[in-house]
Amino acid sequence: MSFSSSTVVIRPARGIAGSVRLPGDKSISHRYAILGAIAEGKTRLANFSTGADCASTLGCLRSLGVQWEQRDGAIVIDGRGPAFSAPHQALDCGNSGSTMRMMSGVLAGQSFSCELMGDESLSRRPMARIITPLEEMGAKISSEAGGKPPLHITGSALRGISYETPVPSAQVKTSLLFAGLYAEGRTRVTEAIRTRDHGEIALRAFGAHVEQQGKTLAIAGGQKLNGIEAVIPGDISSAAFFLCAAGLFPGSKIVFDSLLMNPTRARLLDVLMQMGIKISVIEMEENHGELAGTIQAIGGVLTGATISGTDSAALIDEIPVLAAIAPYTSTGIEIRDARELRVKESDRIAAVATNLRKMGAEVEEQEDGLKIPGGQKLHGAELDSFGDHRIAMAFAVAALRADGETQINNADAAVISYPAFFETLEGLVQR
Ligand code: S3P
Repeated sequence: MSFSSSTVVIRPARGIAGSVRLPGDKSISHRYAILGAIAEGKTRLANFSTGADCASTLGCLRSLGVQWEQRDGAIVIDGRGPAFSAPHQALDCGNSGSTMRMMSGVLAGQSFSCELMGDESLSRRPMARIITPLEEMGAKISSEAGGKPPLHITGSALRGISYETPVPSAQVKTSLLFAGLYAEGRTRVTEAIRTRDHGEIALRAFGAHVEQQGKTLAIAGGQKLNGIEAVIPGDISSAAFFLCAAGLFPGSKIVFDSLLMNPTRARLLDVLMQMGIKISVIEMEENHGELAGTIQAIGGVLTGATISGTDSAALIDEIPVLAAIAPYTSTGIEIRDARELRVKESDRIAAVATNLRKMGAEVEEQEDGLKIPGGQKLHGAELDSFGDHRIAMAFAVAALRADGETQINNADAAVISYPAFFETLEGLVQR
C-alpha cells in the first residue's frame, strides 16, 4: 500500500492475521461528550473515538463554553450543568450528522440563539426529522429549503411530547431524549423499529431516569446528571472492515480486545457467522451498561446473505463493507429496505454500485438496496470514496481480493471515523 495526501493504493493480499484494540465507539463517544458537558462535575472518557466526527462534537462544546482537555490519553470534561454560554460564531459540525442532530436536542432548550453548520456533505442531509419534533416541543428552528443545514435554533421553554419517529433513527431518538431533559413534563419517543440504544444507556449512566415500555422510551424533564468515568469500548462499525477482510481469506485469524458488544449493534456478528466466519467471544465485561468483549474471528468460505427489514436498520453502517465483499461470496448478497443509505455521508447505494462496477462486478441497483451476485472475480481499478469514510474503507477491503492494484482517491475521508484505518489494515495484511 502507498499513500499520497488523499490517494491510497491497495495491493492484493493472501490473508489477515493479528490482534487489534480499536478506538472507542463513535456513537457512544458523541453521547458521553454531550452528556458530560451538561452534567455536574468531571467526566473522564478513556479510549474516546479518534475520529474527526467526535472532534466536531468536542469543538462545538468548546464554542459553547465547555472546558475539556486531553489528559493521559483520555478526554476530561468539566461539566457545567444544563446551561451553555452563547457561542460567538456558528457551530461547525463538520461532516457529522450525529453532532448536528444530537446537539440540536440540547440547544433547543437553551436561552440563546445559535447556528449549526456543516461541510458540503452534511449540508445536503435531511434535518426535518429533528426539526419537526423539536418544534413541536416549542423550539424555533429555521433551515434551508427542504429542512437542510445550516440550522438556526432559538432556544425556548420546551414541553414534553409523545412522538413516533417516522424513520428509524437513533440520532433522532437521542436528540429528543436530550431535549426531554430540558422540557416540562415527560417526553415519550416511540420507534416502530428499535434502533441502537446508546442514548438511553448513556442517560442512565449519567444518572437520569429513563423508562422503557416496549418500543416507547420516556424521560422526565429537569433531571440532574452527574459526571462519570468510563472506558469506551472499541468501535464495532470499524471492526466490521477487518472482520470482512478476514472473511475473504479462509483461515485468517483476528482478535479484537474490548470490542463493543451492545446487542443493538452486534447483528453484524450473527450475519457474518451465518455467512461462514467463525466468531467466538473469549471474555465479556460491562462498563456503564455497555457490553465489551474480546472476540476472535476466523475466516471460512463465505456464503451469501439477504439483509432486509429490521436487519437493514441494525446493519446500516456495515452494509457498505458487506456489499463490497458480496461478489466474493458464493451466493451473493441482497440488500433491501435500506433507502436510508441514500442520505448518509454519500448516497451509499450509488457509491457502492459505481465502485463495484469499476472493479468489473455485476451489480443491480435498486431504490432501497442492491443485489450483488456471488462467485465473481474483481480486478483492481481507480475508485473514489465520494468523500465518505465508510466507502473509502469498504473498498480498501474489497481491493484485497482483486486482481491487481486498486487506487482509492479521496481516501483521507477515513479520518471521519477512523484516522489510523489504513495503517492498521496494512499491519494486519499478509502478502
Ligand atoms: C448513529 C445512528 C445511525 C448511524 C450513524 C450513527 C448514532 O444514523 O448511521 O452512523 O450514533 O445514533 P441514524 O440515526 O440516521 O439512523
